[in-house]
Amino acid sequence: MELRDAIRTNGTVRRFTADPVERSTVMSILDDARFASSGGNRQPWKVAIVEDRALRRELAGMMQPVWDEYLEPFGADSAPFNAVDWKRPASITPGKPNELLNGIESVPVVLAVAADLRKVALMDGQLDRPAMTGGGSIYPFCWNLLLSARAHGLGGVMTTFLSRVEPVAGPPLGLPAHHALAATIFLGVPEHQPTKLSRNPVESFTTINRFDGPPV
Ligand SMILES: Cc1cc2nc3c(=O)[nH]c(=O)nc-3n(C[C@H](O)[C@H](O)[C@H](O)COP(=O)(O)O)c2cc1C
Repeated sequence: MELRDAIRTNGTVRRFTADPVERSTVMSILDDARFASSGGNRQPWKVAIVEDRALRRELAGMMQPVWDEYLEPFGADSAPFNAVDWKRPASITPGKPNELLNGIESVPVVLAVAADLRKVALMDGQLDRPAMTGGGSIYPFCWNLLLSARAHGLGGVMTTFLSRVEPVAGPPLGLPAHHALAATIFLGVPEHQPTKLSRNPVESFTTINRFDGPPV
């Protein structure tokens, strides 16, 4: 597949066929993903291929309350859990449907991705706001993984539910000290591969010289 086509059409897949994905395919995908860039080329990633059904169910049980909280109504233009103006909802309706979590045992591939914080130079770690740059050393790896999955005829989704409950999710995953849970990635043969993605046009986010400069 041509690279630009792949970049422009790698839509999120949350429903998979029952086709299994061989361990060798997962290894091949990870073998591509490892060519991602990271700060100082320190490659902070660690991956657990979560095959154990009981462990998957346990993790889904931890993710569900995060999903429930995420879906509680909030401002239209700001993200739930944002660090600027999000407020904890007064009440949370539990058990909101989530096919991915409900069917986690039958998802072909579940990967937990962690980052070794000792290998991440947190350039904005001392500012008076939440640090942002650290993710730059792990999410290119995750995205490479999703692009490679596509090249292998698979689709998937990167999720971050589990990071919110890292203190409880870490121990059953054997998360090493000083590591952050960055993502849980689900992969499989897509029931349907979305290729028409809804994204804002370049003009909506690009200006000249300054962020308050003239539009392009
Ligand atoms: C950093 C990051 C975190 C995400 N977290 C979740 C998540 O927790 N749960 C989920 O279902 N999707 C998650 N997604 C997937 C996004 O919702 C999805 O990529 C986005 O809505 C675009 O969807 P589309 O590719 O179908 O247009 C995440 C994506 C990214 C990049």
